[in-house]
Amino acid sequence: MSFIDDAQITIQALHEYERESMSQEVPVIHQRPMAELVTELGLATWVRDGGLHGRKLAQFLDTYLSAATRLHHPGYLAHQVAIPHYAGALGSLIDGFTNNAMAIYEMGPAAASIEYFMINWLLGKVGWQAAPLPGYNHGTELSGGGVLTHGGSLANLTALTAARSRLVPQVWQDGNPDDLALLAPQGAHYSIARAAGILGIGSRAVYELEVDGEGKVIPERLAAAHQRLQDDGKRAVALVANACSTAVGIYDPLDEIADFCRERDLWFHIDGAHGASALLSQTHRKLLRGVEKADSLVWDAHKMVRTPTVCAAVLVRDHRALDAAFEQEASYIFHAKEQPGFDFIQRTVECTKAGLGLRLFLTLAALGEKRMEAYIDRQFAVTLAAYEYLQTLPDIDCPVKPQANILCFRLQGDDALQIRVRDQLIAAGHFYPSSTSFAGRRYLRAVFMNPQTSLEHIKQLIAEIRGLAA
Ligand SMILES: Cc1ncc(COP(=O)(O)O)c(C=O)c1O
Repeated sequence: MSFIDDAQITIQALHEYERESMSQEVPVIHQRPMAELVTELGLATWVRDGGLHGRKLAQFLDTYLSAATRLHHPGYLAHQVAIPHYAGALGSLIDGFTNNAMAIYEMGPAAASIEYFMINWLLGKVGWQAAPLPGYNHGTELSGGGVLTHGGSLANLTALTAARSRLVPQVWQDGNPDDLALLAPQGAHYSIARAAGILGIGSRAVYELEVDGEGKVIPERLAAAHQRLQDDGKRAVALVANACSTAVGIYDPLDEIADFCRERDLWFHIDGAHGASALLSQTHRKLLRGVEKADSLVWDAHKMVRTPTVCAAVLVRDHRALDAAFEQEASYIFHAKEQPGFDFIQRTVECTKAGLGLRLFLTLAALGEKRMEAYIDRQFAVTLAAYEYLQTLPDIDCPVKPQANILCFRLQGDDALQIRVRDQLIAAGHFYPSSTSFAGRRYLRAVFMNPQTSLEHIKQLIAEIRGLAA
């Protein structure tokens, strides 16, 4: 037994897993009962006795991978999780092996340098000023800042923590005053309400922004929502908009919202966890017109940047806002020290933090910006083509015309039918869509993450759905 042997066994197993997934000779999803899997994987025995190497490891991986949900399968249409490029997955392996917990520079100079560089690259795509490298302070120009964190939910929490600290600079010492609130559309991801709960603002103090039939914020109604909040004696920590919404993938009118926030001196936070990647496309970046006027943006690389989970960026236009978000002292970490790098620890909830930049960097370094742009353009285009095809079918309705790579549709019939059809699709294992509730109705939802999924697959999916419904 050796590292090299076991690594080769693992890589070989993954290679076969990818091949059989892409060729669709195995189901995209196969949910066996947990009790069965716990036994079949031999978990209790391996934990007690150890020795899972060589041929035994190969057998274990066989069982494990046979029960994995296959994102590489072209029938994978479910959730907003990247089909990772293998180079990014190797980044996760290198990061796991070196285990450089790089939130403090001394614990991972290479990992921290890559994170710093990737944050600057993302800031540049937004149109914000990149931060000078430590030791190279270029005058007084305001620069942006950011940090990579373990997921979009944590990223939203981090951005809203920064917003709260700006509104209530003493909050870290004194706790919350009782007049804090948030403004957000009803279709905001649940992590926004969760952040309101965690921050002690309370999810009941999330005031809804009015939206149109597509779930898009109506700029002319912003003032009314703000007024409602003020009439209740509250102050807004931030106004949150979607780019794009989770359920149906629609972008809020950021430019107009940004102007409103500037007028009122409101912190403008954009949840671009899924859709900020349109900034990488010359064709689609206009969907985020006005993004540079925001105060903060969340952008998940593990959604549309082909990067393994998790790798989410919190970006701010003014780095000082994030630097002031977590005002805390831990004498063994935070002390005056001569150092050639940068400590991300002051910008994040985490203490021990993975070197998330490497998986993003290696993905981009393998593909290059042009191929990443082509991927995004292709996914958006195939989604639109699928929508146009569905428009020709009398028994299928779509609630909105997609702007990104999320397509919702509904078979003629009630909500229960949509859920039943999805359950049956999953049981058959050729396709794995998700489902969402939008404007009070249940829809099937196809998220085009997989670069192999084509219009032909959607035609097959519809044929199968019709068969099941009949
Ligand atoms: C708009 C939006 N924000 C936040 C999140 C949460 O991101 P994560 O799953 O990385 O925590 C999602 C996830 O789907 C999302 O769509």
